[in-house]
Amino acid sequence: TGARRRPEDGGGNVPMSVTVRVPAKVNVQLAVGGLRPDGFHDLANVFLAVGLYDEITVTPTAPTEGPRVTCSGPDTHHVPLDRSNLALRAVDALALRHGISPDVHVHIDKDIPVAGGMAGGSADAAGALLACDTLWGTRTPREELLDICAELGSDVPFSLVGGAALGRGRGEVLTPLEVGGTFHWVFAVADGGLSTPAVYRECDRLRERRGTGSGVDDVPAPEASPVLLAALRSGDARLLAANLSNDLQPAAVSLLPSLDETLAVGREAGALAALVSGSGPTCAFLAEDPASASDIAVALRDADVCRDARTATSPAPGATVLRAAV
Ligand code: C5P
Repeated sequence: TGARRRPEDGGGNVPMSVTVRVPAKVNVQLAVGGLRPDGFHDLANVFLAVGLYDEITVTPTAPTEGPRVTCSGPDTHHVPLDRSNLALRAVDALALRHGISPDVHVHIDKDIPVAGGMAGGSADAAGALLACDTLWGTRTPREELLDICAELGSDVPFSLVGGAALGRGRGEVLTPLEVGGTFHWVFAVADGGLSTPAVYRECDRLRERRGTGSGVDDVPAPEASPVLLAALRSGDARLLAANLSNDLQPAAVSLLPSLDETLAVGREAGALAALVSGSGPTCAFLAEDPASASDIAVALRDADVCRDARTATSPAPGATVLRAAV
């Protein structure tokens, strides 16, 4: 392939296209604090990256054409291809930071189910950011990339770092966590969607109805569970299963009561534990081993309680440059 040269690089090769791979996530603990004055909730959010990946490829377009996005994969028709696509907003944010014109074609090869709760949109944003930083040779320091991620959405910084991490603040302030083994998961991809803000609002409404209040002064500060963190460190699936928790689950089930049945089907099929992933509606099932995971996936598909069931393992690495073609 012919190398394009940039005079300001002293003739060094610059890539013609860059491909980045980014994982999905599951929340093994999501502790939700009170509603803050800025409309967000303080969280103790334990993220675990899972091995379902989107691949994001960026290619330069003609100057001043501006960014555009295309998508391939089974869920393509669920992906917005206008400026509301988080990947395009990531490209714009990085270009603005460096005073560059954002003339790129972003292609998303999508394998992360578009259903909510697996951070697929956040993955694409983190992937587009790393891909453009590599394509443009802008070498943005890691801390600055993480700042841009946080501006784009609460889950985007984790998509960049992957592995496992505790997210504090609204989920964007990350501390990496140790994981001592491989965990086997099944994900039930729901038919209908759930809007993240609506699920948080429902969580507040349920708290108000209980009479406990939903503000920062009413709800105890969210804390990561020490036993859960120990379970991750040890790689013990049974210990992890016994300590999974999601404060948004009652709200997600209240808005989409059929999730209860989905969770029950997975449990009956042998899952060590079942929970709603993040704000849902995707449901996550922790399995003992790969054979049990396939059994659970088959049972979920047979019971007709979801659009699809996918197996995957964790942890998985964060956004990674796969190819830089020159
Ligand atoms: O940050 P992100 O764009 O993903 O957040 C989407 C919405 O989810 C927010 O507008 C807010 O309603 C809700 N949210 C929240 N507390 C958080 C994260 C998200 O209330 N920590």
